[in-house]
Amino acid sequence: MIKEIEKLNKEAQNSISSCKNLNELQELKVTYLGKKGRITNILKTIGKLPAKQRPKIGQKANELKNKISSYINSHKKLLENTKQEKIKEEINLDITLPGDKIPAGSKHPISKITEDICEILSPLGFKTVLGPEMETEYHNFEALNIPTEHPSRDVFDTFYLGNSKNAKVLETNKTGKWLLRSQTSTVQIRIMENYSPPLKIVAPGKVYRPDTPDASHSFMFHQIEGLMVDKNVTFSQLKGTLLFLAQELFTPDIKVRFRPHFFPFTEPSVEMDISCIICQGKGCRVCSNTGWLEILGAGMVDPNVFKTVGYNHNKYTGFAFGMGVERLAMLKYGIEDIRLFTENDIRFLKQF
Ligand code: DAH
Repeated sequence: MIKEIEKLNKEAQNSISSCKNLNELQELKVTYLGKKGRITNILKTIGKLPAKQRPKIGQKANELKNKISSYINSHKKLLENTKQEKIKEEINLDITLPGDKIPAGSKHPISKITEDICEILSPLGFKTVLGPEMETEYHNFEALNIPTEHPSRDVFDTFYLGNSKNAKVLETNKTGKWLLRSQTSTVQIRIMENYSPPLKIVAPGKVYRPDTPDASHSFMFHQIEGLMVDKNVTFSQLKGTLLFLAQELFTPDIKVRFRPHFFPFTEPSVEMDISCIICQGKGCRVCSNTGWLEILGAGMVDPNVFKTVGYNHNKYTGFAFGMGVERLAMLKYGIEDIRLFTENDIRFLKQF
């Protein structure tokens, strides 16, 4: 019996040390140490031996059991290490080889200009905020002091949503009809409804108007709205802010001029022109030989707007401005057709 145990020891040692992978090793473990394994069988027969032999053989068999389990464990470690080495070898990188070129995408020019403007205004304290594209007649017109008979409220100038049954009458309910916002000025109202002054915000986003698409018209385009409300906000602060914006966005020696204009939600209102960035003000086709390009509308917030949102118009003043992003991008990059922004032609987009 002792001899048999020694033979089994040698055999196990050989088979375990020549085992090539972890699966095989697991099988060997079952063969020797499993419930019906060879060592287990020996241990089971001990009871049948003469009482004198039992302790010695029992001790030897138990020793063998421990030896086999330690052979298996150390061989397992060896196999695991070599497996890791192999993996390392397989993924071993030659860092002297030239890398694979991953083509980098580029930002859409509309996103680029939008981000630029928000970033330029951020150090002045303007927080970027967003508002919904699906809006109410109240936020798009009523609260902005745009009277019911104003032509911009006509179905030819605004996309109304749903049918007349869904529309609520403004006199009984502030909401009015649902529509796709035709200007980001709606965000001024949403912010003032929810926050008290002082505040400084920029609100970029999409707007919609039923225009027939051509080189300069699109039924969806982007605007950026600005609003500042505080005690003693002045028109010269508005001018300073917009001059800074134009200098940062285009060039430090750009000139700006303000022309009187009319917007229902600002009083006084202006349009701002910049000196033509194509001809530097000398006169060219793009500026129709005037040397100037109109880029935005602005003004001092009309007291009626403050009354509507519940601000004290005797205590607070404010300025607002709004601009079309496509127009700015077309001027900045010399793009002649607005449709290029939405056609997704990679040859166009790659240039930014
Ligand atoms: N909402 C105007 C438009 O779509 C642009 C505008 C003009 C916004 C004057 C303003 C403003 O905030 O003060 O044409």
